[in-house]
Order: sequence, then C-alpha cells, then structure tokens
Amino acid sequence: MASKNKSVYICSECGYESPKWLGCCPSCGEWNTMNEEIVATDASKTKNTVSSGSAKAEKISEISAADEIRFGTGLAELDRVLGGGVVNGSLILLSGDPGIGKSTILLQICEYIGKTNTVLYVSGEESARQIKLRANRLGVSTDNLLIMCNTDAESIIEYIRTEKPGFVIIDSIQTMSIEELSSSPGSVTQVRESTNLFMRCAKQYSIPTVIVGHVNKDGNIAGPKVLEHIVDCVLYFEGERHLSYRILRAVKNRYGSTNEIGVFEMTDCGLKEVPNPSMMLISGKPKNTSGTCIACVMEGSRPILAEVQGLVVTSNYGNGRRMSTGFDYNRLSMLLAVLEKRSGYFFSNADAYVNVVGGLKLDEPATDLSVALALISSLKDEPIREDTLAVGEIGLGGELRTVSFCEQRIKEADRLGFKRIIVPKHNLKTLSETIKGEIEIIGCTNVNEAYNASV
Ligand code: TYD
Ligand code: MG
Repeated sequence: MASKNKSVYICSECGYESPKWLGCCPSCGEWNTMNEEIVATDASKTKNTVSSGSAKAEKISEISAADEIRFGTGLAELDRVLGGGVVNGSLILLSGDPGIGKSTILLQICEYIGKTNTVLYVSGEESARQIKLRANRLGVSTDNLLIMCNTDAESIIEYIRTEKPGFVIIDSIQTMSIEELSSSPGSVTQVRESTNLFMRCAKQYSIPTVIVGHVNKDGNIAGPKVLEHIVDCVLYFEGERHLSYRILRAVKNRYGSTNEIGVFEMTDCGLKEVPNPSMMLISGKPKNTSGTCIACVMEGSRPILAEVQGLVVTSNYGNGRRMSTGFDYNRLSMLLAVLEKRSGYFFSNADAYVNVVGGLKLDEPATDLSVALALISSLKDEPIREDTLAVGEIGLGGELRTVSFCEQRIKEADRLGFKRIIVPKHNLKTLSETIKGEIEIIGCTNVNEAYNASV
C-alpha cells in the first residue's frame, strides 16, 4: 500500500482532532486554535495490528521489584515531592509559568547528581554560553555535566544511546522536533511524538529523564493532554510573580503521593529550600490588628501554618462585593451565608475580602474556621489573640465538624510557639494523652463559641 499523507486540524490547546478547519474548538471552546498538521497514515499504524506472536507475560510473583533504585537530587524538598528521590528510568515532566525557575532548579541539581553520574542537559532555548553564565551564578561546576544545544529529538536520542548518560534533562519539550513530521516544533504532534521517543529511551536504558513543559494561558501544560498520561510524574512549579516563594507540587506521581509540596525561595544565587515554611508564612503577621487569623493546612503529610486575612467594609452600593485570593470564592459565599443565618453576623451590605498570605492556596475545609474568624474579627474590629490559631470545618448549621490529622496540626502549632488552639469539640476524643497538656486545646461546637474563645 502506498503511503498517503492526510491533513488534519488539531487544537493546540487540548489536542482535539478534526478533519476540517473549525473556528472554535468543540472540545475546549477556544477560538482560532485549530492548526493544520500532516499525518502519515501508513506503516507505523498498520504494524501494530499485525501480531508477530512475540508477546510474553510474567508471573507477578516472579517479577523482581528490587529494581526501584532511587537517588537523591541534593534538594530535599524536591526529593520529597518525588516521593523520596528520582526513580531510575522514570520520565518526569516539570511545568510552570515562564520565569518561575524551571531551568534554574534543573541546573542546580546537576551539581549534586554530577558527583555520581554524568548529566546531559539539552537546551533548545538557551545558548551554551547563557547556560554557562547561569551555572557560574549557581555554583555548578562539575565536570560530569554535558551541555547540548540541540532541538532534533532523534539525534539527541542517538547521542543518549551511544553515550548513556546517567541523567537527562530536556529543556524544553516544546522546542524539540522530529524531522519526519512536517508540523512545526511546539505543535501537538511534535510534542507528543518527541515525548514518546524520550519515554521509550528512558525506559529502555533506565535513564531518568526530566522534561520541561510550557504552560498555556490558562496555566495548563501546553500541548496534548496525552503528555500527562505518558510521563510518570507531573510536577508543577507555582508561585506569585512578585513574591520570591515558589511551591513545587506533584500532580501525578507513579512512585509516590501527589499531596506533597516543596517550598523554595528564589534568591540571587538560585533557589534555596525553605525547610520551615510555616515560619516563613506567618513571620510578617501584624500585631494587634483585627481581621487576621492563623490557619493550619495539611499539604501532604506536612502541616503548614498560614495567615488568613479578612477585610469587611461597608459597601457603598446595594450589593456587597466579595473577593478572595487563595481561598475558594464559592466557599467564601457559603461561609458568609452561614455566619449570617446561624451566628448572627451580617455581611449582606458589606464588602468582604479574603486573602491568604504568601500565595498559598487553602483548599481544605479544615481552614473554614480561620477564614470565618478573620471575617468576624474584621467586622467587629476586634483582634484575634496572638497566641491562638483555629482549625475546623464549618457545616451549614454553623457547627464545627471534625478535621483529619488533628494531632499533627496541634504539634505544628505547638512547635511554632502557639499557646492555644481551637479545634472542633468532637476531635478532642480522638487525641492521645501525650499531646494534651503541652498546648491548651479548646474544643468548640460552633462558630460563636470559637470566636468567643479566640478574642
Ligand atoms: P528560569 O529558571 O529561567 O525560568 P523558567 O526556565 O521557568 O522559564 O528562571 C528565571 C528567573 O529566575 C528570572 O526571572 C531570574 C530569576 N533568577 C534569580 O532570581 N536568581 C538566580 O540565581 C537565577 C538563576 C534566576
Ligand atoms: Mg527555562
């Protein structure tokens, strides 16, 4: 059968394919994202359907599991997010906004990994000189670091096959291309096929590979969704542009939990780990000011304290304005409704703002109580006590519901020098004896009780 090239239109945002051009992608609703790409409809696809009879299966009991070799990256925060280090042969996708520090963190770990392995750093974005200048700044000078400025995926794979480095970094996958595919670098087909090539290479030679992926304007990884299915780990680097703190989060991890976060600070000599994020997040808390309360949120296995600020002012227009940063907007509306109906605090003709300091996102119901206390405190203009923090989920009846990991949260509060912690009353029963006594634990049943205990 003669090979025939067919043209399809692929959405650059979500990877949706259509045989004809469309102004608006039916899958993700974006406009002007359908680009023409040529796909070869021959050999490679038909080959899969013809069985060569070489498929083999192994008994699960006979498969050796001892191969999961992990090695550290020299950054404990990164190791934690990866689930205890990089697994041999894994493919990791690191993504995040431009300028957030993806290239910086990868170059930084080269120094440590270079002590035991050769590292191949492939850059399609920067020149070797630029990388050298940055490496100088970061103090990376190992002889085991090889820099390659290339964008041809196949020749890079060829090099990896012959030289077999111990660790490979591809910065970034959007610049990689395969010559045979006619579409331009960064297009859906190119990104998908290049990732497939690197994945096969990583598995075949057990070389851990990190690829950098750009994000589109919505903050999702640019390119096809399949990219996230192919790789073993997806890491997101987040942070506010104007703040120096960066949070590394695992969205997918085949070798560990996805709840862990790593906290870094961008300094003039690269990223520094922040081993004690609670301290950093609450350090600037104003004294004797109303409308601020400390919350404790679980990020994976680690409790982190954060400052929640609420501001309530009389609205000049009929409808109160609500705004929230770092806390779910709909949950804020719900909390305000509960406070109004169940606790007797009226917000309907007031503007209410909530802000979580440090760019942290509170997505856990256990932080409800701190948000409510910050808002009430601002409404009444009474400061919450300095030595007090609060955890608890608020139900629609204004009651406090039990929270998980209560002991860990209490221990973290105690470690940071808090004297009193307000928890839902039901949680008191579950606490072990050893923890009681170190810090005053106040059990409350509803929001009003909690507020009275906190001022
Ligand atoms: P970079 O790693 O190039 O971002 P990405 O690869 O994610 O696009 O990070 C660049 C930013 O980091 C840039 O704004 C400057 C800043 N930076 C520092 O503040 N200190 C440093 O030591 C380095 C290397 C970068
Ligand atoms: Mg970069």
